[in-house]
Amino acid sequence: MTTNVLIAFYSRNGATETLAKALAEGALAEGAEVRLRRARDIVGPEVMAQVPGWAESAARMDALYQAPTAEEIDWADAIVFGSPTRYGAVAAELKAYIDSLGGAWFQGKFNGKAGSAFSATMTHHGGAESTTLSLYPIMAHLGLIIVPTGYADPVMFGAGTPYGAHAAVDGKQISTPPDSDLEVARYQGRRVARVAGALKTLRG
Ligand SMILES: Cc1cc2nc3c(=O)[nH]c(=O)nc-3n(C[C@H](O)[C@H](O)[C@H](O)COP(=O)(O)O)c2cc1C
Repeated sequence: MTTNVLIAFYSRNGATETLAKALAEGALAEGAEVRLRRARDIVGPEVMAQVPGWAESAARMDALYQAPTAEEIDWADAIVFGSPTRYGAVAAELKAYIDSLGGAWFQGKFNGKAGSAFSATMTHHGGAESTTLSLYPIMAHLGLIIVPTGYADPVMFGAGTPYGAHAAVDGKQISTPPDSDLEVARYQGRRVARVAGALKTLRG
């Protein structure tokens, strides 16, 4: 029985995307099927023009990743949310996707499935943990079984947060996170896939 992992992320500049791809590698290594989906932009072109490269980066990602849909919640055994920090909390673009899921929520389609979250920031103390944690109440309301990273793997003693993987772009526009950050994301992907597989068996 295959385990299906939906990674629904928003990224404007690629840092969250990089983590999402590493998390997907981990889930794939665990034998899961993975869908990487980028939530669409909701701000106007005048905002996207404020920083050189934003519009191009968004267009590149939109060509690579479909938008996440409500129907995919049926398919998914795990839903993993990834967001850049916006003042210490989830980005409006990802929240807009989540807010489109009320119908699936009412129908109990999240119940007993695995949920997990990760984030990217500008600086190391710029709100990684609060951003990931801002997704925890949402996952609880949806009825997901929250899968934190914890300290259940040696990679967690070198990077990440116990709540989810993290990368900081360190003042750069384009980030290439160190491998220690990506290792945490891969581990998170493996862990989420394992837990989601076990929960799927329980749901029958
Ligand atoms: C409106 C806005 C608010 C932001 N707030 C913060 C913040 O509070 N702390 C921080 O470290 N970075 C903040 N950032 C920066 C992004 O979260 C950071 O660059 C992130 O790595 C971008 O991820 P992405 O490359 O996936 O888009 C903010 C960016 C924007 C546009």
